[in-house]
Amino acid sequence: MKLDRKEILKALETITVAGEGKNMVESGAVQNVLTFGDEVIVDLVLTTPALHIKKRAEVDIMKVIHEKVYEKAKVKVNIKVETPAKEENPNQIKGKEIPGISNIIAVSSGKGGVGKSTITANLAVALAKMGFKVGVLDADIYGPSMPIMFDVEQAKPVSVEVDGKSKMQPVQSYGVEILSIGFFTKPDQAVIWRGPMAAKALNQMIFDANWGEIDFMLIDLPPGTGDIHLSIMQSLPITGAVVVSTPQAVALADAKKGVAMFNNESINVPVLGIIENMAYFTPEELPNNKYYIFGQEGAKNLAQDLQVPFLGEVPLVQSIREAGDYGRPAALQTATPLEKSFEELARNVVEETVKRNESLPPSEAIKITTMAGCSAVKGK
Ligand SMILES: Nc1ncnc2c1ncn2[C@@H]1O[C@H](COP(=O)(O)OP(=O)(O)OP(=O)(O)O)[C@@H](O)[C@H]1O
Ligand SMILES: [Mg+2]
Repeated sequence: MKLDRKEILKALETITVAGEGKNMVESGAVQNVLTFGDEVIVDLVLTTPALHIKKRAEVDIMKVIHEKVYEKAKVKVNIKVETPAKEENPNQIKGKEIPGISNIIAVSSGKGGVGKSTITANLAVALAKMGFKVGVLDADIYGPSMPIMFDVEQAKPVSVEVDGKSKMQPVQSYGVEILSIGFFTKPDQAVIWRGPMAAKALNQMIFDANWGEIDFMLIDLPPGTGDIHLSIMQSLPITGAVVVSTPQAVALADAKKGVAMFNNESINVPVLGIIENMAYFTPEELPNNKYYIFGQEGAKNLAQDLQVPFLGEVPLVQSIREAGDYGRPAALQTATPLEKSFEELARNVVEETVKRNESLPPSEAIKITTMAGCSAVKGK
């Protein structure tokens, strides 16, 4: 059977690649279609290296050819990734590599109060328990939580000499290296900084600190998707982001915005996955009972819809809240179901980071040319 190339192109016109707007033929993504009997080879060029978008394109192509052209066609899709030409602008800020820090993971949410800081602290502890060297950078300029959650509220980072330069020494707690805006402000002082000012302080905490070798640096972000987030992505080469949400509709809507912000083609920070916090309530005295007070599996379903990995769920239990307030993250527990939840979460984060590093080039800081217009370009 000889397949008709025109018919195949017509079928491919029904597919739109995420983030490209036009259909894949019109946008020029389809470079070539070759047919040999019942075999079809489609050469595709994508501008995003995101694995899920590549996979999606491949699946969609096979599906439309099978449905609209010939159901037994043998389809092969060759995908090449070409990032768009880089915009040169002398005012762009150059992203710096951070010696010694292998992976920087931003913990974000969209909606406030869904448990970013709780997840950051517990994930950090769980990763450290697995033997990784872990750093936490508390970037919440509105309400830094790490000093309380790690019981180092009174700590003041000291200055140390490294190669003739004085550097800030992060504070250590439970095997995790920590720096927080909270160490430099009074506990009752509300810090309302604008993005660029906050970015400067964060820059110092990253580049002028003696972090040593770090496998995973977790950044606890403030809630929302505002200019502080852009500032952070501007100054740091973020390996990937995790998005925390409760299963509740209002939180999910904001989580979706969070994912969209990272996926935005000018920001393009890979989303490692979604974490469902407060997935269900379990009373201490009835450990086998689960009450889905914020709804069931909302974040899991959102991950599926957005085609990003689901990293795991954490229940709403009193001891997590108490542990946070007391300054001893619940993930430090041994042989409890909670320890298992956090362990699984940490394992999935490591797994997704490894996958990301295998499939994508290292991240660079994004250069944002105008802060207000959020016109950001990624480049060398
Ligand atoms: N799984 C959980 N079980 C019980 N309590 C939790 C859980 N997760 C978070 N909490 C509690 O909910 C409150 C909010 O959590 P947290 O401060 O981590 O949220 P956040 O997203 O960082 O908030 P913000 O947006 O203000 O930074 C805290 O009191 C915390 O102890
Ligand atoms: Mg917080």
